[in-house]
Amino acid sequence: MNKLFLTATLLVSGFLVFAQGGDRFFPPSQLTTVGAYYYPEHWDSSQWERDIRKMAEMGFEFTHFAEFAWAQLEPEEGKYDFAWLDKAVALAAKYNLGVVMCTSTATPPVWLTRKHPEILMRNEDGTLYDHGARQHASFSSSFYRSYSLKMVEELARRYGQDARIIGWQLDNEPRKFMDFSNDAHQRFRDWLREKYQTIDALNKAWGTSFWSALYSSFDQINIPRPSQWGTNYHQRLDHSHFADHETASFLDAQARVIRKHASPAQWITSNYIPMYDVGYIGQSRELDFVSYTRYMVYGGDRGIGRKGYRLGEYTRIGMANDFFRPLKGYYGVMELQPGQVNWGTVNSQPLPGAVSLWLWHVFAGGSRFTCTYRFRAPTYGYEQYHYGIVGPDGVTPTPGGLEFSLFTREVEKLRKNYDPKAQLPSRYTKRKAALLFDAGNVMAINMNPQTREWNTEGHFLKYYRALKSFGAPVDFIRDTARFEDYPVLIVPALQQVNRAVLEKLKAYAAGGGHLVMTVRTGHQDQNGHFWEAPFAAPTREIMGADIEFYDLLPSHAPDSVVYNRKKYGWTSWGEILKPHSGTETWATFSGDFYAGKAAVTHHRLGKGTVTYLGVDSRSGDLEKDILLKLYRQLRIPVENYPPGILVEYRDGFGIALNYSDKPYEMTLREQAKIMTGTRVINPGGVLVWKE
Ligand code: GAL
Repeated sequence: MNKLFLTATLLVSGFLVFAQGGDRFFPPSQLTTVGAYYYPEHWDSSQWERDIRKMAEMGFEFTHFAEFAWAQLEPEEGKYDFAWLDKAVALAAKYNLGVVMCTSTATPPVWLTRKHPEILMRNEDGTLYDHGARQHASFSSSFYRSYSLKMVEELARRYGQDARIIGWQLDNEPRKFMDFSNDAHQRFRDWLREKYQTIDALNKAWGTSFWSALYSSFDQINIPRPSQWGTNYHQRLDHSHFADHETASFLDAQARVIRKHASPAQWITSNYIPMYDVGYIGQSRELDFVSYTRYMVYGGDRGIGRKGYRLGEYTRIGMANDFFRPLKGYYGVMELQPGQVNWGTVNSQPLPGAVSLWLWHVFAGGSRFTCTYRFRAPTYGYEQYHYGIVGPDGVTPTPGGLEFSLFTREVEKLRKNYDPKAQLPSRYTKRKAALLFDAGNVMAINMNPQTREWNTEGHFLKYYRALKSFGAPVDFIRDTARFEDYPVLIVPALQQVNRAVLEKLKAYAAGGGHLVMTVRTGHQDQNGHFWEAPFAAPTREIMGADIEFYDLLPSHAPDSVVYNRKKYGWTSWGEILKPHSGTETWATFSGDFYAGKAAVTHHRLGKGTVTYLGVDSRSGDLEKDILLKLYRQLRIPVENYPPGILVEYRDGFGIALNYSDKPYEMTLREQAKIMTGTRVINPGGVLVWKE
């Protein structure tokens, strides 16, 4: 067994009290570890040893099995076949690779689908999904749930006490679905009954007096149809919460079954696509941590400069790091693109070095591991043309494969230089900021954006990018977090809010925190109703201002706000503010009938301050300049990294990444010892040093 995993196991059995959180499974001195997916069932068994040996030789420390193999694990109902998997696990162990075991629930076998077609999801128009793809079964189907759990239990019985298995991945990229099956309808009604208890309470929450939508029984309620115009907003919101619950509760059920049999040394996670308008990520309480999957070059992002698409958009990894880590205090990345993919809109080659840049970026966020999909490029099936660590011949490393391999050697070097007592530089930690995030709120805004100029994630990113250009560590946090841990807390567009959260925000500022609130915050209560009061009434005292009205501009007619004699264009959302006495006006609207009125305000609240940005600028420059003023006022020195230059610290190492199209020269402290890269970092390059 791999030495590093053995250490983790010893830690679990011997020093459980001392090893907490991620350290329980991933010893800190290991820093990070790298793995690759392998599908033994795709290849002739005579090749398995060659492949697994190669994986180990390339520096990988773990592999990942049984992700889509239910048909091979349970070829007939109740008849399990683990012989092939036993053989693959033994080979992994022979070459010192730990194994992540998957639950295969994303691909039910045909015997199950044919015997119980009711396990399939149903489209809005009534058509059923069918066998032959993946993720076609319904998380709401009780048959599917019970058959899945039976198979998962057999797997856990077989491998739960097996020290070669380091952890479990549940399902694959679990999502939530619009499923119109009978079971989904039934469970939606049950969920509503549990939430509201009486139909009167539901009628009130959904505002069904509007358009004669009144219900007299839960059984009359259906799943809202996306194609139907004008369906009740509150019903759609509730359905979305319900769908989150279906995903989260299915994973929890799987985790509970595994825990019955598994040793505490084995961790349990799932691999989520980072999406910020879904509530299921972080909702499955039984998981030890959450991991994410990331593909950077797929035709979707321009990146920076003409060839930026070959590196991808840096916030896609940055924000995912800073979003997943705070959920459980640590995280891993389960899939990181090894090269070209097959499913994008344009599947370009990543820039040579891009894979390495992404690996270091994941590392910089504090990740405990990075795994890649997949070791061997597929030669058949839906994912032809998808790269692997080795090409379709099964033996020749791809450029991305070599970058993975090099990374494992560089990590070895870092491990040798690891100092357990190393602290994060105080100039870095002083800048720390949090963004308050609530998935339900994002979903609610996206369902009812009011203007096509608005982009919720884009709004968050304006603040995120500004903070990253300052060189600040950032956490996305929930309203249950300790706000006091952050000198600066940004509350972007928290449209739906309950009074308890507002009280908590007020107490944070009053206690000395620096609160930054932005447009749309506090407009609605947690049911999505406006307050029967002036607009955003409960936030006014915290803001130190009233909102006179809000305005939305068409894209062809932007207007501007003026801050410090500089003009900033905007279209998407403007709130025309009336400061209370004692509140400063930092920026004003210009160019329209409300020219001269306040757009950004700032006031003291107890020992802290509240800054309110009543406008969403087009470029994000206003957000950056206002945050800069705040940081200056707080006497927190910040950097001014150009767009695409990121600098983070972990475990005594500094990591600088260049996603821009120009070389960047990094200034290091004298005693800094370069571990990899050069002080002048070329586009796509990385510099890692010991502080
Ligand atoms: C991921 C998925 C993997 C594989 C990969 C291809 O989204 O989780 O199973 O399909 O895409 O790039």
